[in-house]
Amino acid sequence: MSADDGRAEACVERRSEALRRAADRLVRRRLPPAAPDGSTPLWSASFFGLDRVPRFCAADESTRAAVLDDCATALLAEAWRIEHCGIDYCGRMTRVGESDDERRLFALIGADEALHASLLARWIASRAPQPDPFSRFIAGLAEAGAPQPLAFLLQVVLEGFGIVHFGSLATSCRDAGLAATFRRIARDEALHHAGGLATFSPDRLNEADRRFLEDAAYSFLQMIRCGPQGVIAALDRHIGLGDGNDSANVFAALDAEAASADKLARLRRLMAQPGMAWLLDRLDASGAFTACPAGDCAQVYADTR
Ligand SMILES: [Fe+2]
Ligand SMILES: [Fe+2]
Repeated sequence: MSADDGRAEACVERRSEALRRAADRLVRRRLPPAAPDGSTPLWSASFFGLDRVPRFCAADESTRAAVLDDCATALLAEAWRIEHCGIDYCGRMTRVGESDDERRLFALIGADEALHASLLARWIASRAPQPDPFSRFIAGLAEAGAPQPLAFLLQVVLEGFGIVHFGSLATSCRDAGLAATFRRIARDEALHHAGGLATFSPDRLNEADRRFLEDAAYSFLQMIRCGPQGVIAALDRHIGLGDGNDSANVFAALDAEAASADKLARLRRLMAQPGMAWLLDRLDASGAFTACPAGDCAQVYADTR
C-alpha cells in the first residue's frame, strides 16, 4: 500500500467512526445506554425445542453451549438485518411518499428502525453477522418492489408478524436488557403495522403489482414452511446430523411441522385483509400455507447445505 493509499484509508476510517459516534449520540438521547448482562445462553434449549433432541442432550456442556450460541446469534443477526432493510425501505418511501403525512409517517418509522438496529447492535457487536437467506430475500424485495405491494408485504404482514415474534423473543430471553429491547421493538412494530394498514390500499394494485405480490408471498411462505433450518445448521456444525433419515428425525423431534403450521396460520390471518381474497385463493391453491413434513424439511436442508 502506498503512503497516499494509507492516508486515504485512514481518512475513510475516521469519517466512518465520526458518523457512528454521531448516530450513537442520537440513540443515547432517546434511550439510556444498555449493555449485555453476560447471560449465556441468551435463550434456553427448550426455547428452540433442542431439549427434545437426543443428539443435543447427549453432547457435552461446551458443545451444547456452542449450539445455543449459534442459534441466538442467528436470531439476533436476522433481526438486526431486517431492521436495516426497514431503514432502507423507509428511506425510499420518505422520498416517494405522495403527501406530507405519508413522508412524515415513513420518516418516523425509519427513525424507529434505526433505533432498533442500534439497540440490537449492542448484543451482536462482536459476532459479525453474515446475511442469511431470509434477510437477503427481504432486502431484495425492499429494493425491487413498488410502494403498494411493499406496504402490504413488509408493513402489514412482516411487521404484523414481528409483534408476536419479538414478543416471544422478549418473554423467553434471559438477558434483562435484551428482553426489554425486544419488548420495545414489539410495541413499535404494532404501530408500524398500523401505519401499513393506513398506507396499503388494494384498489391501487395493478396487474404487475399483483404478480409481484403473489411471487414474493409464495417465496416468503416457502421459507417458513421448511422449519427451523438455522437450528439444524447449528446442530450440524457442532454435533453433526448423520444421514438424511437422522436429520428428518431431528426435524420431527423439534416438532418443526406444528411450529411452522402455527406461523403459517398467523401469516394467513395477517394476509386476510379486505380486498386480498384473490391472493389467499392463489396461495391456498399452491399449498403455500401447508407446513412441510419433517422429511421434506430435511431434504431442503440437504439441498442447501
Ligand atoms: Fe423495527
Ligand atoms: Fe418496524
